Amino acid sequence: MLTVRAARTDDLGAIVKLERYCFPPEVAFGRSRWHYLLTHAKGRTLLVLDEKDQLMGYLSLLEHRGWDRLVIQTLAIRWTIRRQGWARRLLEQVIREGREAGWGAIRLEVGDANEEAQALYQRLGFRPQQRLPDYYGRDQHAHRLVLPLVSDEVRTLRRQRRSAMHTQPGATKSTP
Ligand SMILES: CC(C)(COP(=O)(O)OP(=O)(O)OC[C@H]1O[C@@H](n2cnc3c(N)ncnc32)[C@H](O)[C@@H]1OP(=O)(O)O)[C@@H](O)C(=O)NCCC(=O)NCCS
Repeated sequence: MLTVRAARTDDLGAIVKLERYCFPPEVAFGRSRWHYLLTHAKGRTLLVLDEKDQLMGYLSLLEHRGWDRLVIQTLAIRWTIRRQGWARRLLEQVIREGREAGWGAIRLEVGDANEEAQALYQRLGFRPQQRLPDYYGRDQHAHRLVLPLVSDEVRTLRRQRRSAMHTQPGATKSTP
């Protein structure tokens, strides 16, 4: 049986290894990037593990208060358990928890050639927001996708509140 739990610092080696198998070298995050994500970044990484505690997949997410957005950094599932709904489950979990915590939206970037990932995100309601030419290297275009977690009205109200705060003397931080 597979289980999901939050990543710990001692998962670093297994994550970096799976990342190398799942992404081409020019795209894969290296050890230092993953170390930052697991130790210093504001956000979290969810892991899928098998009964022997072997890493089967992960999703890493950063919190961006200023933009009122959660940003998915990376998502991968080991080839042996693909097409069994694990990526969708991880995404559904962060979408549900993001809504409960009051975040405005979730954002990510996906390569135009990555048809399986595009199908996955589209079915969950993510929509293209911006074209990113040469994002993953020459001729490797991508798109930024966004899934709103609150209504347009709420987003507009929050934006107005944030800009009002920024124009007030003594205002120190924005709120979601
Ligand atoms: C993309 C990836 C994360 C999908 O993981 P997964 O666990 O196999 O995906 P799921 O089983 O949850 O699939 C959910 C839906 O996504 C779509 N999908 C997933 N894989 C697909 C494929 N090979 N072809 C077409 N659609 C696919 C389907 O709509 C699927 O629903 P369905 O099975 O009911 O038709 C996985 O293929 C992967 O790790 N790829 C390499 C790394 C990568 O590209 N990550 C994404 C970076 S943006």
